[in-house]
Amino acid sequence: MTDSLATVAYIGATILFILSLGGLSNPETARRGNVFGMVGMAIAVLATVLGPRVTGAGYAWIVGALVIGGSVGLYAAKKVQMTQMPELVALMHSLVGLAACLVGFASYVDTSTVFPTPAEKTIHEVEVYIGILIGAVTFSGSVIAFGKLSGKIGGKPVLLPGRHLLNLVGLLVVLWFGGVFLNAHDVQSGMTPLLVMTVIALLFGVHMVMAIGGADMPVVVSMLNSYSGWAAAATGFMLSNDLLIVTGALVGSSGAILSYIMCRAMNRNFISVIAGGFGGGAPAPAKGGDAAQPQGEVTPISAAETAELLKEAKNVVIVPGYGMAVAQAQHVVCEITKILRGKGVNVRFGIHPVAGRMPGHMNVLLAEAKVPYDIVLEMDEINEDFPETDVSMVIGANDIVNPAAQEDPTSPIAGMPVLEVWKAKTSIVMKRSMASGYAGVDNPLFYKENNRMLFGDAKKMLDEVQAALH
Ligand code: TAP
Repeated sequence: MTDSLATVAYIGATILFILSLGGLSNPETARRGNVFGMVGMAIAVLATVLGPRVTGAGYAWIVGALVIGGSVGLYAAKKVQMTQMPELVALMHSLVGLAACLVGFASYVDTSTVFPTPAEKTIHEVEVYIGILIGAVTFSGSVIAFGKLSGKIGGKPVLLPGRHLLNLVGLLVVLWFGGVFLNAHDVQSGMTPLLVMTVIALLFGVHMVMAIGGADMPVVVSMLNSYSGWAAAATGFMLSNDLLIVTGALVGSSGAILSYIMCRAMNRNFISVIAGGFGGGAPAPAKGGDAAQPQGEVTPISAAETAELLKEAKNVVIVPGYGMAVAQAQHVVCEITKILRGKGVNVRFGIHPVAGRMPGHMNVLLAEAKVPYDIVLEMDEINEDFPETDVSMVIGANDIVNPAAQEDPTSPIAGMPVLEVWKAKTSIVMKRSMASGYAGVDNPLFYKENNRMLFGDAKKMLDEVQAALH
């Protein structure tokens, strides 16, 4: 393939990636968006492999890598449960970071490239230094995020004394070694500052994500997504590959926008997320006693009683959370919705922006079960309707319906917007026990007078509710 044909293919792939992102912004066009992305990536890989820069023995290496990487990817995608998707994504981000580091070192030690002017050599070295820096932070940060999301590492923030000072000193050392690196006369003498910077960047990634509390993990996931995009763009600069630069910039900027949206949804600002600590520990004791701890009796309810309440209701709002994903209860939720709508009940869904474990998690599950899009509303669209709602049914959700966020300023999640299900005439919470959610914070909703607890696995309980509705 000639150089110009490869460029045309790259432009085509870029357009497909942009169309893909556009499609993914809406559930109705998301499937098409995915197809655009896949076709774009296939064109990009083919144009690169068949392009003028790959020759002779290179093909054997590329085919070998494609077979190994493709098989691992296929196996992981087939085996992974929907609830484990965020962990898999975090792991994938770590690979992008690792690739950026390896490409950086490889292109630094590769002395075959001749730079026409010293300025171009310096620009290349700056690209290598920054590329490895972003790659190393992305790699170690994503590995820790994987550990936290999969429960292998505890969700509580690890806050080292003087951590901001530590980060600042790390940054200054990285800048100083950057100067040493650029002034190095040969690869040997440049390697020491490069390695020192890499170790500091790796430690910074670990430190940054370890310090972040459970409630901020959604922001961290999208932030690492953004970093992985910038790491890919940096790799593109090092390899002089325009498509990689554009693709990396698309991922980097869309991840940054998503982080901003997540921050707004959680009522947090980006700097305090990076500073860490949110939603990690037990609530600070309130003045004059332990008022921060929810107290009182909970009122259980049976599946048959739940069905009765639903049948008698005019307005029902269903709030799904992580537990619905674990129980795979979305299909029976859809069946119940159909039955109730058939009986003239106005059923709608309230979706919190960070419900579940990844952005859009609940929308994906409900779309899979074929719940009509027009009754699936965002938190801001439905929150003011709860006072006119007869029954709010919470399915495996906890943090996103925790009134402590509004009522208890000492709560670790104080200020986070939540779905105000307790304002309905009756709220029903469906979960297996009194355990707390991802943020590890107790939930006073369970003790409210108008709240009922339907204890059990969401799928099992909803099957019983469905049977009782007929
Ligand atoms: P959570 O607060 O984690 O609560 C889920 C609840 O589901 C748990 O309390 C659990 O209680 C229940 N559950 C688990 N398995 C169940 C089953 N088989 N049947 C019935 N219930 C089951 O979830 P949420 O309300 O969706 O809130 C999301 C949380 O995750 C937030 O804190 C958010 O910050 C965090 N997070 C979100 C993301 C994104 S991007 N969405 C990413 C990382 C973290 P039992 O054990 O008692 O059943």
